[in-house]
Amino acid sequence: MSVNPSPRPPLVYETPPAIRAWSRELRREGQAVALVPTMGALHDGHRSLLRAARAAADQVVASIFVNPAQFGPDEDFQRYPRRLQQDLGVCAAEGVDAVYAPTPGTVYAGDHSTWVCEEELAGSMEGSLRPGHFRGVLTIVLKLLHTVEPDLAIFGQKDAQQALLIRRMARDLDLPVVIHLSPTVREADGLALSSRNAYLSPEDRGRAPALYQALTAGCQVLAEGDYRAGNVRAAGMEVLAQAEGIEVEYLEAVDLNTLGTPLRPGHPVLVAGAVKVGRTRLIDNIIHPHGALAALNNGVTSS
Ligand code: PAJ
Repeated sequence: MSVNPSPRPPLVYETPPAIRAWSRELRREGQAVALVPTMGALHDGHRSLLRAARAAADQVVASIFVNPAQFGPDEDFQRYPRRLQQDLGVCAAEGVDAVYAPTPGTVYAGDHSTWVCEEELAGSMEGSLRPGHFRGVLTIVLKLLHTVEPDLAIFGQKDAQQALLIRRMARDLDLPVVIHLSPTVREADGLALSSRNAYLSPEDRGRAPALYQALTAGCQVLAEGDYRAGNVRAAGMEVLAQAEGIEVEYLEAVDLNTLGTPLRPGHPVLVAGAVKVGRTRLIDNIIHPHGALAALNNGVTSS
């Protein structure tokens, strides 16, 4: 991706009152503020979100915070990549105006005890395999939205269940913010960009695109007019069964709006999966039909 030759470094704020004061002042002047929440180790997927924010708003804030509350006890919180200086360079190149990079002590009080739980969409897929994960995600995202008070917040389709849950939270809790979903950025061989791809050995990197190939095979069944979730899943599982070194955690075809079944022709479908390649956990998804993401962003719930 091209890099702005003389980027202006973003302002960096570390506490809620500091970033809120900055945002409030600009919004009082009538400027629109967009927030892109991240955990850092920024790659081209994050950059595409920053660009969407840049195109949609006057001021762009990126938050960079590895949120301990969304990691399970046996997950990779400790070894999750942290490279703030490099990330600030990426933000500068993408024309980000401000970075909110709080320290954990600033975000969670020692006796923090209030959590956000969604009870309809959070139970399946990622939610069933990572207990407490979405509680941690929704709580930090609500805190970020309260702290930055943006007009717009942008999330990636890469984490589709997460993004749909955040939209549900915003609706259910009357948050005065537009939640926008942005398409997944992939490597040439189909592998979705992820900060966790850095964990892959060269051998595992060669195996990893099988997940996208499986999701594509599932979508092919839908494209042929077969909306039986079991058949969509079976087509994907067949691809993964032939791939070496891949352990399947789940592969599902669900209605994009309910995250459940049945699938119905004319209603967009989320084909999503999680696999382990070596020790690395990868997730990915495709929405069928392709145009359904744009429709979702425009408030259309079925195609
Ligand atoms: P993180 O994994 O850093 O991702 C930040 C945002 O980038 C998410 O909205 C994610 O969906 C998006 N993203 C990741 N990979 C992408 C890709 N290949 N293409 C397009 N977008 C991509 O998701 C989180 O952080 C956290 O859960 C967070 C929302 C920040 C809360 O802690």
